[in-house]
Amino acid sequence: MQKFFIQGGQKLEGDIPVQGAKNSALPILSASLLCDGESVLENCPELSDVYSACRILTSAGCQCTMQERVVCVHADTLRNSEIPENLMREMRSSIIFLGAMLGRTGTCTLGYPGGCELGSRPIDWHLQALRKMGVRVREENGVLFCSALGGLHGAKIHLQFPSVGATENIMLAAVLAKGDTVITNAAREPEITDLANYLIRCGAKLTGAGTDTIRIQGVQKLHGCTYRIMPDRIVTATWLAAAAATGGNVRLLHTDLNSLEGILDVLEQMQCQCSCQADHICFSAAKPIHAVKYLKTMPYPGFPTDTQAIFMAALCTASGTSVMEETIFENRFRHVDALIRMGADIRTIGRVAVIRGVKQLHGACVSATDLRGGACMLIAGLGAQGQTSITDISHIDRGYDRPEILLQNLGAKIQRVSA
Ligand code: UD1
Repeated sequence: MQKFFIQGGQKLEGDIPVQGAKNSALPILSASLLCDGESVLENCPELSDVYSACRILTSAGCQCTMQERVVCVHADTLRNSEIPENLMREMRSSIIFLGAMLGRTGTCTLGYPGGCELGSRPIDWHLQALRKMGVRVREENGVLFCSALGGLHGAKIHLQFPSVGATENIMLAAVLAKGDTVITNAAREPEITDLANYLIRCGAKLTGAGTDTIRIQGVQKLHGCTYRIMPDRIVTATWLAAAAATGGNVRLLHTDLNSLEGILDVLEQMQCQCSCQADHICFSAAKPIHAVKYLKTMPYPGFPTDTQAIFMAALCTASGTSVMEETIFENRFRHVDALIRMGADIRTIGRVAVIRGVKQLHGACVSATDLRGGACMLIAGLGAQGQTSITDISHIDRGYDRPEILLQNLGAKIQRVSA
């Protein structure tokens, strides 16, 4: 069990190299099992979720190695289409392996991914779509037995909501299926485009990623390739919000400005100075930052649900009152109690939070409630007066590649301590 200790109140100053995107690395690692030959994935962040994905590949018989943020996968030795129960529990996004495993082998057995800290996480739309593509699904004692013995076939699939995971699973199942697949009301997140770009580089016939209609023409084979994972837009937003909360002045390097829709807007409303150039952002915070009247989480290109907790931490000390509405997940305000313990003035009514800016937060003993809730605690602790200790930081390690080193380089007083 490890903890972070933060002595807050230091302005963040300096350069921040942005890590590769977790939400892109995971589906691309899953996609690598569809390919003959080797895939070399560069800029893979060193995260517990990425290690879990690598363990799923190895348990299926693939060869998978990781060195200096480069993952090499050989899927030619794949021999097992079962995803072990412990790996399903370790990472809910293991569900992303279902489409690829079915595409490659025609079968997949996996544990039913239960609810998680964000609320119930159903996969009904994933299964409905796969059934349309010829997959039979049988559930027994929480285990899903999926098979398409005659092979998968293309289908017209309309998603009732642009689910990121369902869109990815359909793409992964469709690239080697017989015939054409059309996904309408598809998710448009930049990570979908990154997955599509990798698949196209491997020989897939796919168009429309990044729009709400994706067309896929099944091919017989895919081959591995070398591919660089896109920069993480949620991590970019995290360090911008951290700089905002500490009145800092930072430069984010190797980021993808095109993927930051819905985020830069908000920073502008907070009256921060953002100057965007080629692949980096120069950022300086307003003093104090301004409240944002109304922020509602939405599918891309709207304000991302993954940045709700992160921006809430910064808005606790803004001048004025901010209102945030969470529309994507049913239980994504679990960080609010800890923020209140640190002196924030927040009321929640259902899925709406009203944040009245206070002058200063103070340190406290808090715990990371989930991945982005943990990032919220980091930001609040960095901006607060006094010492904050954060427990349950394994949640943070799922998505942030050694955050304490990066923050120390910016002048933060933060230590990782083993209990
Ligand atoms: C992905 C991201 C996660 C992000 C989320 C929304 C990864 C690894 N995770 O999660 O960080 O917060 O997108 O941007 O990329 N739903 C159903 N039935 C389904 C599928 C989804 O009801 O079959 C609901 C979910 O409960 C949720 C909403 O749809 O309320 C959005 O979920 P979805 O877009 O699928 O999120 P994930 O892919 O799980």
